[in-house]
Amino acid sequence: MAKIIGGLTSSHIPAVGNAIEQGLTQEPYWKRFFDGYAPAKAWLAENQPDVVIVVYNDHGLNFFLDKVPTFAIGCADRYENADEGWGLKPVAPFTGDAELSWHIAESLVEQEFDICTCQEIKVDHGFVNPLRALWGTSDPWPIKTIPLAVNTVQHPVPSAKRCLQLGHALGRAIESYPEDLKVVVLGTGGMSHQLQGERAGIINVEFDLDCMEKIINEPQWLTQFSNDEIMAQAGTEGIETIMWLVMRGALQPQVKLVHKHYHVPISNTGAGLLVLDNQ
Ligand code: DHB
Ligand code: FE
Repeated sequence: MAKIIGGLTSSHIPAVGNAIEQGLTQEPYWKRFFDGYAPAKAWLAENQPDVVIVVYNDHGLNFFLDKVPTFAIGCADRYENADEGWGLKPVAPFTGDAELSWHIAESLVEQEFDICTCQEIKVDHGFVNPLRALWGTSDPWPIKTIPLAVNTVQHPVPSAKRCLQLGHALGRAIESYPEDLKVVVLGTGGMSHQLQGERAGIINVEFDLDCMEKIINEPQWLTQFSNDEIMAQAGTEGIETIMWLVMRGALQPQVKLVHKHYHVPISNTGAGLLVLDNQ
């Protein structure tokens, strides 16, 4: 049977891709941020997952504001990246696992999560940059990927509670797949940031650190807050952190913390990295 061996979180800031591409990762601005990834890379190298489910939000590359599914899953054997206008050169296409995707979609719908199924998804920086930071930019990529998109862009956005519940259903879906696969779930985005308006640039270190601590073994803590309350604390785009709950919900109630790293600021954003062992 498929087994979820762990969960990770990572920032997906576009500038991260540029720093990797331009070889700036050891420059003073970037060094501490990228050095934080070393223990995560070591854990992945040691545990060798076969598939990563990437829980991320599309920022307008694939879904535009005219059509936004609340939850969507890629059901393809290949996913392409494309130019989004951040100066990021598209990376090599990713290999999917359509069979596993369809199994997850069927199981989620059976569990009353009526997810949108997509036989084509262009994956944006929310998906690509965490994979680059964790696995290194590769062609071909060393791991199969499945995109799971959560709408955190166009209101109404699902609640933190709903994201945690989706994670519970996702965990059951993955672990009922008959093939022996080692799966990791990666929640991208967050933490506090707001990119426009009067409060542009807001970073709330205290709230970010509380979220990181609680998500390890008390994830329901975040579900006490409405989306308005999370955005008041963490900025409008800080709502992306609710996607971490999809990852966390897929794991066991108690997990082992392998690595925790927080860094501010990269661009305008609090960047949090967690590695949680589910075994
Ligand atoms: C930034 C962060 C994001 O999550 C994003 O989607 C785009 C930009 C930033 O900090 O620059
Ligand atoms: Fe984002």
